[in-house]
Amino acid sequence: MMVAHRGACLLVLLLAAFLPPPQHAQDPAMVHYIYQRFQVLEQGLEKCTQTTRAYIQDFQEFSKNISIMLGKCQTHTSEYKSAVNNLALRVERAQREIDYLEYLREADICIESEEKTLAEKVLQEAEEEKKIRTLLNASCDNMLMSIKSLKIVKKTMDTDGSWMKDAGGNSAKVYLLIGSRNNTVWEFANLRAFMEDSTKPGPRKLILPLSWQGSGQVIYKSFLFFHNQGTSNEIIKYNLQKKTVEDRMLLPGGAGRAPIYQHSLSTYIDLAVDEHGLWAIHSGPGIQGHLVVTKIDPDTLGVEHSWETPCRNQDAEASFLLCGVLYVVYSFGGQGPHRITCVYDPLGTVREEHLPNLFFPRRPRSHSMIHYNPRDKQLYAWNEGNQIIYKLQTKKRLPLE
Ligand SMILES: *[C@@H]1O[C@H](CO)[C@@H](O)[C@H](O)[C@H]1NC(C)=O
Ligand SMILES: *[C@@H]1O[C@H](CO)[C@@H](O)[C@H](O)[C@H]1NC(C)=O
Ligand SMILES: *[C@@H]1O[C@H](CO)[C@@H](O)[C@H](O)[C@H]1NC(C)=O
Repeated sequence: MMVAHRGACLLVLLLAAFLPPPQHAQDPAMVHYIYQRFQVLEQGLEKCTQTTRAYIQDFQEFSKNISIMLGKCQTHTSEYKSAVNNLALRVERAQREIDYLEYLREADICIESEEKTLAEKVLQEAEEEKKIRTLLNASCDNMLMSIKSLKIVKKTMDTDGSWMKDAGGNSAKVYLLIGSRNNTVWEFANLRAFMEDSTKPGPRKLILPLSWQGSGQVIYKSFLFFHNQGTSNEIIKYNLQKKTVEDRMLLPGGAGRAPIYQHSLSTYIDLAVDEHGLWAIHSGPGIQGHLVVTKIDPDTLGVEHSWETPCRNQDAEASFLLCGVLYVVYSFGGQGPHRITCVYDPLGTVREEHLPNLFFPRRPRSHSMIHYNPRDKQLYAWNEGNQIIYKLQTKKRLPLE
């Protein structure tokens, strides 16, 4: 206020220096001067677009100057009274226009920053997409066509359990994990030894330092990965050769909060191996009961990426991944028919409408587990105490655009 006032006084002094005295002669000259300046600025204002923003500042300053000067004009001179009043109105109108332009300019800035964040988001998404395409690259392009046949290779009496071969190495060994909570692993020399109990030598017994929960265990490159019983989301990486716990991780994102499959209630985290590596299937942060798949780096146990899928846990009994695509098996009321009615492809090339009817051969109960093995490209399953192999038929899927 002080500064403006002092500025105005200075200007008046300055103008006074150019304009002839006496006092009254100053008025018409000043009004004339103001008119001229004003006209120039008004013209400028008319053209005012984004490129003439400099005018706004200039005009604001000028109109402030004018108001102060007008206040000091000798308005009692009737001759100039209306001219001065008119000028005051024009200044006022111009001020409103300027305020409006200011408002537009600020809105522009908002739009600019919104556009910027949008552009950043698009960029981020593109990078994310690139990362996913590297993770799930074209080294594998099969999709499931049908479940060709069923072979019961062994019968134990237990409802729950899992059995498997190493899904990453080339060992012939077969592993049997009976029950939904235990720490005893049976290791058979090969499938023949597994099928015929009488074969010598008998299975090797491994006692784990921790127990597993559910039937989601996998063996990948000589490591057993399992959900540590008594924890909600801890995954143990156990070295089968050294017989030691190699590493452990906490699976993020709401994992382990609820059973994943309505018809296999002891499994809170299901692990899977496909051509791309190690995965976990688990519940998500929400309460909607949708399955979440998380890709895990088996060496560092770091999370590579996580996807919330549209597949629901209601009426689900098992799921597996094949070539980066999640297939979820459902059975209504826990009995047959067992059928894949939800698939999830993070790359979006395989969709339900591409799939034929994916029925499993009729089984009396829900599966305790179904795991794909990318080495021999078949499913290892457990149903009502039976250890089953399902042979598959696949076909090439559509290439990525
Ligand atoms: C307004 O007045 C100040 C001094 O009071 C001066 O420096 C400035 O140039 C004037 N602005 C305009 C637009 O006339
Ligand atoms: C664990 O499994 C072994 C056989 O694999 C069995 O003998 C034992 O009773 C089980 N323990 C529990 C607590 O279920
Ligand atoms: C594709 O991914 C696999 C592992 O998932 C990797 O071994 C292979 O080198 C990758 N190929 C290309 C062409 O990026």
